[in-house]
Amino acid sequence: MSKPVLQIANLNKTYMLGKRPVQALTNLNLQVNQGEFIAIMGPSGSGKTTLLNVIGCIDKPTDGQVLLDGIDVGKMPENQLYKIRRDKMGFIFQTFNLLPYLNARENVELPMEGKIKSKTERKKRASELLALVGLSGREGHRPQRLSAGEQQRVAIARALANNPAIILADEPTGNLDSQNKQEIIKLLANLNLTQGTTIIMVTHDSQAANHTERMLLLKDGKIIKEKEGLHLAKKNSKCPNCGSNIKPDDVTCPICKKPILATVEEPFSS
Ligand SMILES: Nc1ncnc2c1ncn2[C@@H]1O[C@H](COP(=O)(O)OP(=O)(O)O)[C@@H](O)[C@H]1O
Ligand SMILES: [Mg+2]
Repeated sequence: MSKPVLQIANLNKTYMLGKRPVQALTNLNLQVNQGEFIAIMGPSGSGKTTLLNVIGCIDKPTDGQVLLDGIDVGKMPENQLYKIRRDKMGFIFQTFNLLPYLNARENVELPMEGKIKSKTERKKRASELLALVGLSGREGHRPQRLSAGEQQRVAIARALANNPAIILADEPTGNLDSQNKQEIIKLLANLNLTQGTTIIMVTHDSQAANHTERMLLLKDGKIIKEKEGLHLAKKNSKCPNCGSNIKPDDVTCPICKKPILATVEEPFSS
């Protein structure tokens, strides 16, 4: 059994809008184990970004407990939180958020500064990570010379820079065309499978969500539904239709011949 990397108990988050309290998260409980690939879905305003921000130590809980790798981050002072963010978290955004004046490799190296002393070492690691996301040979390109899909690959390599406990992705495919969307989801699923990277991804795209192993539906600041995704079947090497053994790359089941495809379910996505 893998160990919990995130334990959230009775989490509440209230924002003040002038004098009016806005309850963004209500008594939320969630445990995420090391190596899980999770999708968080839900309508606009349901608390998805708030939840990611609290997990990512960008925002503090009003009430309740958030344990990251066993560390209680809810009550930690800001001058220690930055280290948690740097060492334990990798962030991926809808708009990539690369620095335009740095090339791909320099963007990936950036979070390593302060963590890895040797410049040569940082360079080497950044190159390896860019190779891992399929961008060998693009290292010297600045973001404006890369396609949207390539820019998101750089951002994924950057998120992996300090070997984080969790990758947090807020709508990582939101700005991509359908071809790149598929490729980025495949890349994330593959990193989860081969590197054991724990990923929590907010998405509006039910097809993308279906490629994870566990989908959570948020509404009014609470998790109201949970469902298994296709990735779980791939991880367990079992066909979701007939239970026969499958390989991660199989597109159809070698036994029942049915396609191993994501099913799109609307109530979950709306
Ligand atoms: N900084 C803030 N100040 C006041 N209210 C906020 C703030 N951030 C989010 N909210 C409110 O909290 C609720 C959840 O927002 P959010 O987490 O952004 O939802 P989602 O990402 O699911 O669209 C919404 O009602 C939103 O208006
Ligand atoms: Mg949001």
